[in-house]
Amino acid sequence: MTAIAQDAPILDVGLVAGLMVANGYEIALSNLPLHSTHGRNVWDAIPHEGGQNQTDAGAVRIVVKGPRGPATLPIPGNCAKALALLTATPDTENDIISTLGNRPSDQARESLRLVLESLACLGALRRVVMDGRKVLAIIEPLGEYYRFQFTNPIDPDATLRAVRFCLMRPDDGGMVIESPLSHARIHVVEPAIATLVARLATAQDLKTLQRSSPEIPTLCILTLMSLMLANGFVTMTGSPPGDADQTLPLQHWEFHDLYFHTRSRRGRHNNAMGASFRFRERTNPPPAIKAPMSLHSIPLPRPDMNALLVNDMSVTAAIELRASIREPAARAIALQELGHFLYRCARVRTRSQMHELELTSRPYPSGGASYELEIYPVVDRCHGLLNGLYHYDPLAHALEPLLPSSAATERFIFDAYTASAGAARPNILFVITARIQRVAWKYSSIAYATILKNVGALYQTMYIVATAMRLGPCAVGAGDSDLFCLTLGNDYYEESAVGEFMLGARNIS
Ligand SMILES: Cc1cc2nc3c(=O)[nH]c(=O)nc-3n(C[C@H](O)[C@H](O)[C@H](O)COP(=O)(O)O)c2cc1C
Repeated sequence: MTAIAQDAPILDVGLVAGLMVANGYEIALSNLPLHSTHGRNVWDAIPHEGGQNQTDAGAVRIVVKGPRGPATLPIPGNCAKALALLTATPDTENDIISTLGNRPSDQARESLRLVLESLACLGALRRVVMDGRKVLAIIEPLGEYYRFQFTNPIDPDATLRAVRFCLMRPDDGGMVIESPLSHARIHVVEPAIATLVARLATAQDLKTLQRSSPEIPTLCILTLMSLMLANGFVTMTGSPPGDADQTLPLQHWEFHDLYFHTRSRRGRHNNAMGASFRFRERTNPPPAIKAPMSLHSIPLPRPDMNALLVNDMSVTAAIELRASIREPAARAIALQELGHFLYRCARVRTRSQMHELELTSRPYPSGGASYELEIYPVVDRCHGLLNGLYHYDPLAHALEPLLPSSAATERFIFDAYTASAGAARPNILFVITARIQRVAWKYSSIAYATILKNVGALYQTMYIVATAMRLGPCAVGAGDSDLFCLTLGNDYYEESAVGEFMLGARNIS
């Protein structure tokens, strides 16, 4: 249940929510031995006589067949009739509850609720808003944290609006409504439902909502609102928890941050997650090393790593002395310092092959050894190097000159100067881009999150190496990705700027 959902009691009402078995699933009585390939054990959660004894005379078994394999679950015998009603054609919740007999006990209702909740959590159950036999909208539970409540009436005087995190988008040939506050999503079957939800951009009382959507029966509107309220899509304004999306702690979340957070972590979606190699059948992954970007290449000085292993500043000292230095010294950084810095942070140490993915090893860590990040030094003051924009070739440990100093390179430097509160111009600004397909070819749901984590790993390596070299490092929190693509003629979606880092000579007192 979300921060916004209503925790209403279970009531029998005339609402027209229905239940149906999800596409690709089958629920049947079973005499198979117990096993579960996913989800929790329903029996443990359900209040029943006979304790944990799975051979209890009152228990029956059902098998749920789905895309992730079959699961056999024990259920209380009095729920069997209700489950027999569950098919791909929806039946109303009230019909399903009525299989428990006249005036069922609270315990019987709770048992049924928990069985339905388990089926919903397994992905086998959908709730629907029905107009007679016609389905208007389908609520799809998303995973094990979904909580099933029988549909409850809402206060007829309520004023409702969509939570500010709610969004509508096309998916798989249909329109879906999603909310990062929810453990479910809504499939719009009748377009009139989309119009109705669009009206919820501003607070509406139920009567106005009914008047403005005459094509949807009142009972269907009430049912949809009740389900949307319980599932974190709409909020009841004026009464607690009311405007929870605009008060603490939710008020600090911006829409894009919360949506990204919930979709790149497990819990609130049922999308594939992690190393799925989702484009394996369609394309080859991009190479580990970007193709040369210039006809010329400037070899960079390399440090004596053996000498450094003996004489370099200790890790502890580098970590303890590390600080963001925004103002470079009066002298300019030297080409040798730039070369040593890049070698110690970001060169390719070794190359290897893992199936069709070409991998490398470099000094900073990278999720899946993707090493999708490219480094473009924008040089403003470097002894031994002309000002301009370069690309770092991490294999040859060389700079590829791309553009001489210009209005565009000046904008990069000026933006960094502004981001550091106008402290000073950096000697060198590193624009860090990501070749997105390197990561997205392999990973589902976490590709962009992984890229940002990789930027953090590179930042910290740059900070520590710069400190050990007595240089002045400072990360930059915001940059212009369009400016970078326009300057180089890159495709924004293929390779985009994801970070910036300033480096300068440093006054050591
Ligand atoms: C991801 C990240 C973004 C940052 N962005 C900026 C920035 O835009 N401007 C700036 O002056 N400092 C920036 N910094 C530096 C922080 O302000 C600095 O790390 C923090 O104030 C702590 O100070 P210290 O690094 O000297 O220990 C950034 C640091 C990180 C890790």
